[in-house]
Amino acid sequence: MTVFRIRPLDATVDTAAFGCGQAALDEYIRRYASQDIRRDVTRVFVAVPEDDVDHLAGFFTLSAGSVNCSKLPAALARKLPRYPVPVALIGRLAVDKNFQCKGLGSLLLADACQKVVQASQVLAVAGIVVDTKGDSAAAFYRHFGFMPLAGQPGRLLLPATAFNSVRT
Ligand SMILES: CC(C)(COP(=O)(O)OP(=O)(O)OC[C@H]1O[C@@H](n2cnc3c(N)ncnc32)[C@H](O)[C@@H]1OP(=O)(O)O)[C@@H](O)C(=O)NCCC(=O)NCCS
Repeated sequence: MTVFRIRPLDATVDTAAFGCGQAALDEYIRRYASQDIRRDVTRVFVAVPEDDVDHLAGFFTLSAGSVNCSKLPAALARKLPRYPVPVALIGRLAVDKNFQCKGLGSLLLADACQKVVQASQVLAVAGIVVDTKGDSAAAFYRHFGFMPLAGQPGRLLLPATAFNSVRT
């Protein structure tokens, strides 16, 4: 079984051969991710095999965002102010085809959620939002309890109440 290390993207990681089946995500990690990090608009974390630490197996991005309460499910919106509330945004998450269906997507999502839980001790967020491209990716997130945001196709939310219980 492959053991993975998750670490920030840096120049040692070979992104050129990465292919997840979605051209836009492949192009992002190859061409734009490093630039976004330099500009402080996102953080990018990569999964690499423990025994091949420059080989890119998967990645996710984390940044700050906000959602309007009118877009939240009614039960949650009732507990929040009417102005836009802060959220953590997983803008992109992808696994290379050679590593798909082996649990790496779940591992990346769990790691992203754990990082948000830690960050939320000093920077409040009302939940985690993901941006998906296509029904299949949305199904992946719904599998883990994310709920669709009304009026925002492809955006799903995991409310903070779902991960507050694991806060350390
Ligand atoms: C979606 C993606 C990240 C899943 O990664 P993965 O490593 O193959 O997923 P895992 O092996 O960790 O699967 C975890 C669970 O999710 C389920 N799952 C995986 N892909 C799924 C999908 N498309 N729809 C529904 N469930 C899915 C698996 O059946 C598994 O369920 P289990 O825990 O009950 O066994 C990966 O297929 C991918 O990179 N796809 C292309 C890019 C993409 O669409 N990214 C998301 C939008 S930004």
